[in-house]
Amino acid sequence: MRILQVSAELFPLLKTGGLADIAGALPAALVAAGVEPRALLPGFPAILAGLSDDTVVGHFDAPWGERLSLRRGSLAAVPTPAGPLQAYVLDAPSLFDRPGNPYEDAERRPYADNARRFGALGWAAAHLAHGLDPAWRPDLVHGHDWHAGLAAACLHTWPGRPVPSVYTVHNLAYQGVFAAHHLQELGLPAHFFRPEGLEFHGQLSFMKAGLHFADRLTTVSPSYAREIQQPEQGCGLDGLLRHRRDVLSGILNAVDTAVWNPATDTLIPHRYDPRRMTGKAICKAALQREMKLELTPGAPLFCVVSRLTEQKGLHLVLAGGDDIVAAGGQLLVQGTGDPELQHAFALLAQRHPGRVAVHLGYDEALAHRVFAGADVTLVPSRFEPCGLTQLYGLQYGCLPLVRAVGGLADTVVDADLATLEDDSANGFVFHDFTEAAYRHALRRAFALYRQPTAWVKVRQAGMRRASGWDESARHYVALYEALLQH
Ligand code: ADP
Ligand code: GLC
Repeated sequence: MRILQVSAELFPLLKTGGLADIAGALPAALVAAGVEPRALLPGFPAILAGLSDDTVVGHFDAPWGERLSLRRGSLAAVPTPAGPLQAYVLDAPSLFDRPGNPYEDAERRPYADNARRFGALGWAAAHLAHGLDPAWRPDLVHGHDWHAGLAAACLHTWPGRPVPSVYTVHNLAYQGVFAAHHLQELGLPAHFFRPEGLEFHGQLSFMKAGLHFADRLTTVSPSYAREIQQPEQGCGLDGLLRHRRDVLSGILNAVDTAVWNPATDTLIPHRYDPRRMTGKAICKAALQREMKLELTPGAPLFCVVSRLTEQKGLHLVLAGGDDIVAAGGQLLVQGTGDPELQHAFALLAQRHPGRVAVHLGYDEALAHRVFAGADVTLVPSRFEPCGLTQLYGLQYGCLPLVRAVGGLADTVVDADLATLEDDSANGFVFHDFTEAAYRHALRRAFALYRQPTAWVKVRQAGMRRASGWDESARHYVALYEALLQH
């Protein structure tokens, strides 16, 4: 079974968030499950730099008249059990040869030609499905998030649509909505532009194109699959999602244990596993030293590793900062994004030298050191399709403290008397999106920390949780098989 995976990001070559982690881990998991995946990616400089043994396999004309090339090659940085991942890269310097963030300019404004940039990606997928590379034609196209949303629509422009498609929503809040006039330059038929198509309140929505035209829809946790069918988290698309609920399912994200595993991680000062935990204490001391936190082994160290955006509920962390310090804890925030949040966290750190530290920047290796050194990872999200940092926290014995929403609700089991007794507890969960509920969860974390035996038990439960891709990959393969048998 040949699967063309279409995404804008791919770890470790290009990453702005969890989408890259998943796009980078899924191919190896699919190979292990007996499938033959290849990736289709935009030709961003970092992606092209990672491509080797490549040749141009073909060209196609973008609807606006530009001739675009597709390269095929190997991504040595993305190993699979069948060798390096094979990838198609849309080599279009006019669209993708820009430094920095893949979606926006240095002033954080979305690029004005984003409709063309990701429209071209959709067309590239459709051309590959139609046989642009005679040596490899996919049986199915699997697109991820709005950047790949148009692929499903482009496939429908061919008479007798070449292959079916699956579309995975990683975050419904980012939709790729553009002015209606782009429809023509994107080469899509006028009748696609209606509410039962890709029109969204008079505009053109790439997200809606994926949700409407794809044969199967998935999202990254069962809870989020339910939540997005309701107005509160449906981002205006809940009606369509309810309408398509029979083809919508939630498949939980997993951890790439080749990258995130404290027993083998070469990015952390000392390796450890559930049976030999002294390494974690060494990692904690090293992290405290590195981040200029007081070298107090007994102070619970809370961390945040996150994009600093509204989604992540970080005003709760700001509001609870003084509480952590007053109770004898430490807080370390690693993040980048919203300038106001960055400023607020910097002020918090200034107020509490040695107790609160902030790293405002993106640093992959530091994230590993943070999960390895810290005791609790805070994820109090307003909404969370799946969330990966709570999973990395579980892996690294850094207990997640999360709000019960989306994938956080599906992966973290609150420590209470019953779950402590049956050994299922692996973190702390609060429900209401309020400071009071968050603060109460913090107090419970401190209380458990003061009971070392119970703490160790909960930490072990998290570290021993099956976190790899096997099960989720099986769900994707079952979905592909069911679709192809139709
Ligand atoms: P989202 O995709 O919504 O940002 P996830 O929890 O799914 O949330 O994934 C976030 C990913 O980005 C994780 O791999 C996390 O470690 C990483 N990350 C977030 N912020 C930073 C940062 N400042 N430096 C390094 N890694 C980060
Ligand atoms: C999105 C979501 C996040 C999810 C990630 C990978 O960025 O915000 O919750 O874990 O995609 O699926």
